[in-house]
Amino acid sequence: MPSAIVTGATGILGRQIVHELGKRPQQWPTVHALSRSKKEECPQNVVHNHIDLTASADNMAKDLQNLEGDYVFFAAYLQKETEQENWDVNGDMLENFLTALQKNGSLKKVKRVILITGCKQYGVHLGAAKNPMVESDPWLTGADRPPNFYYRQQDILKQFQGKEGTGSWDWVVTYPNDVIGYAEGNFMNLATSVGLYAAVSKELGNELVWPGSEEFYTKFDSFTSAKLHAQFVVWAALEPRAGNQAFNVVNGDAESWQNLWPKMAERYGLQVPSDQLTRDTPDKSVMDLAERPPIQDLEDHLGIKGKIPKSKVEQRIDLMKWSQKPEVKDGWQKLAYKEGLQEDAFEKATWGFLGFVLGRNYDLVVSMSKARRLGWTGYADTWDSLSDVFDELEKAKILPKRT
Ligand SMILES: NC(=O)c1ccc[n+]([C@@H]2O[C@H](COP(=O)([O-])OP(=O)(O)OC[C@H]3O[C@@H](n4cnc5c(N)ncnc54)[C@H](OP(=O)(O)O)[C@@H]3O)[C@@H](O)[C@H]2O)c1
Repeated sequence: MPSAIVTGATGILGRQIVHELGKRPQQWPTVHALSRSKKEECPQNVVHNHIDLTASADNMAKDLQNLEGDYVFFAAYLQKETEQENWDVNGDMLENFLTALQKNGSLKKVKRVILITGCKQYGVHLGAAKNPMVESDPWLTGADRPPNFYYRQQDILKQFQGKEGTGSWDWVVTYPNDVIGYAEGNFMNLATSVGLYAAVSKELGNELVWPGSEEFYTKFDSFTSAKLHAQFVVWAALEPRAGNQAFNVVNGDAESWQNLWPKMAERYGLQVPSDQLTRDTPDKSVMDLAERPPIQDLEDHLGIKGKIPKSKVEQRIDLMKWSQKPEVKDGWQKLAYKEGLQEDAFEKATWGFLGFVLGRNYDLVVSMSKARRLGWTGYADTWDSLSDVFDELEKAKILPKRT
């Protein structure tokens, strides 16, 4: 019977992995959930252990004494100001954690390490990538490309695998995108922020005005339900042919905000204004992304040289500015008081992240073909995923009950 270690156990992706393993005590009798904070009670087969992954490997080895697992799920993440800092911190956390397991001798017992990364793999934070994105697309390592901590983390796994005395485990890496899940106080949380935007718009007596890019409203995005991702990693941990492979993990439907936005409005009893993409909005912002969008690395090969402009993040309503407006804050406070909501939920929402995700002016289409070829059949409807998470957020008193 396999045992598991999950880092990032309180995060949007890690928490759901813990829940998925927690639902199957017969199959997974021992699950070690690791994080600095403990935010909820664990199922009976899950033991929570405190760990600070920024500690030295020696200190971590002390904390991890007697802790063993056949499968290690690494879903910890710390967000820093610059990509260089992200590279340093997130790379070091993984490296020191594996070193600590090695020092304790427990790495030798590991069968597979599953590392959670994301579609920044393809440079989706830098601009338009080739669509659909496939796992064999070349890494963006040119001199003008910023450091990408996912590349460092993946290299660390490969280097560790070859080291003497570390056992004979293999690895799986996942690339989720725009995750839809439940977490409190994390770094990137699409569902909480977009739900709060709708709730406060309603409280203020406004319509549900699209705050993102006019172009993106009718472009395609690929989303990852945290629940589906958790099912995926459990499948990938045990699928023999998945070893030493990286996989995209998205819902598998074709989605666009032109489809999701009116559903959001309906759920919260709001109207989508017919002129929302043309009316003047006072708090616009435009940000240029990288000089060369990722797809330009392939422009000769694809035969599109000179055809791809620089990508932008264009917010019709800049959500950072919006969230700081006195009338918006006031609206939230009234709503929170009236509905008995968690007062700091609005402040903890990730407005910068939401503004970026909705403001991009390019398609993000992520292929699931590689996993499907290996037998993965999981699928989630994106609206259903969002709606389920809104239900959870309502129960947790982060969003008001829909009327
Ligand atoms: N969220 C998204 O939309 C999204 C999309 C695509 C890819 N990804 C990628 O998915 C991966 C996981 O991110 P996430 O969004 O799930 O992260 P998250 O929700 O922000 O959670 C981060 C987790 O890491 C833990 N952690 C942070 N610092 C720690 C430390 N010093 N020691 C121990 N634990 C620490 C946190 O727990 P404590 O604070 O309790 O310690 C938390 O459990 C990242 O590579 C991220 O880039 C995320």
